[in-house]
Amino acid sequence: MLPFSKLFKNKKNEYNLDKDRLPVHIAIIPDGNGRWAKSRGLPRSAGHKEGSKTLKNIVIYSNNIGVKYLTVYVFSTENWRRPQDEVEALMSLLLGFLKNAEKELRGTEVKIRVIGNVKALAGDLQSEINRVEKLTQNNKGLCLNIALNYGGRDEIISSVKKIAKEVAEGKLGIESIDGNMISNKLYTAGIPDPDLLIRTSGEQRSSNFLLWQTAYTEYWYTDVLWPDFRQKNMDEAIYNFQKRNRRFGGV
Ligand code: IPE
Ligand code: IPE
Ligand code: MG
Repeated sequence: MLPFSKLFKNKKNEYNLDKDRLPVHIAIIPDGNGRWAKSRGLPRSAGHKEGSKTLKNIVIYSNNIGVKYLTVYVFSTENWRRPQDEVEALMSLLLGFLKNAEKELRGTEVKIRVIGNVKALAGDLQSEINRVEKLTQNNKGLCLNIALNYGGRDEIISSVKKIAKEVAEGKLGIESIDGNMISNKLYTAGIPDPDLLIRTSGEQRSSNFLLWQTAYTEYWYTDVLWPDFRQKNMDEAIYNFQKRNRRFGGV
């Protein structure tokens, strides 16, 4: 693992990043795998395969530069609408990513957590998720949140249901419901809201990602397709973030 000083003094690094003002939590919508493949005359699954290599590299890079939380949207609750063979290819890549995580992320202390409706996933994927989460739970490096079968609306609905149940059982008064209570019932309970959200491939929408948590997140878009996304693109995003003035409704 490269220490900070080495990374930031690297002459090849065009962006002068302030290591004391890194975003604590970066969220990524890694989009454009399909278009990457199409432009090469390859099947969409080839784009996903290349995209999973990018994911591994960006996880390691984020960990090395000292980002604390990275949340990556790998499969949305709407992605089931894709052709079955594509869904299967994505699920099998995710299974492979988790199975290889130990080997690929060795020495990084990355802590993995999956957020989303895990119970609706195939049994082998669920057991792999449990295994990797347990294995890495005490790691002190980057917290990697993999948003898998994740939907922001689903997440808010289930939070509201949990609260409604407590009200119905007489354990909670309606007046005491507040934002913290909702936050604490989301998949991301205990994780600070994202500071920066990156979406690749030129699309500029949230596609149901972290709807509640991104209220004051800075958005950064790039036309680069996810399989082509490199460390320097990440640096550019962080550099841009560091130039912004976040006001949180103040002056
Ligand atoms: C993002 O790439 C990966 C997932 C949604 C899993 P896409 O597959 O959406 O790629 P495009 O948008 O079709 O190019
Ligand atoms: C969002 O990308 C979901 C993931 C990257 C996993 P999509 O490609 O599915 O989003 P839309 O359909 O273009 O909004
Ligand atoms: Mg897409």
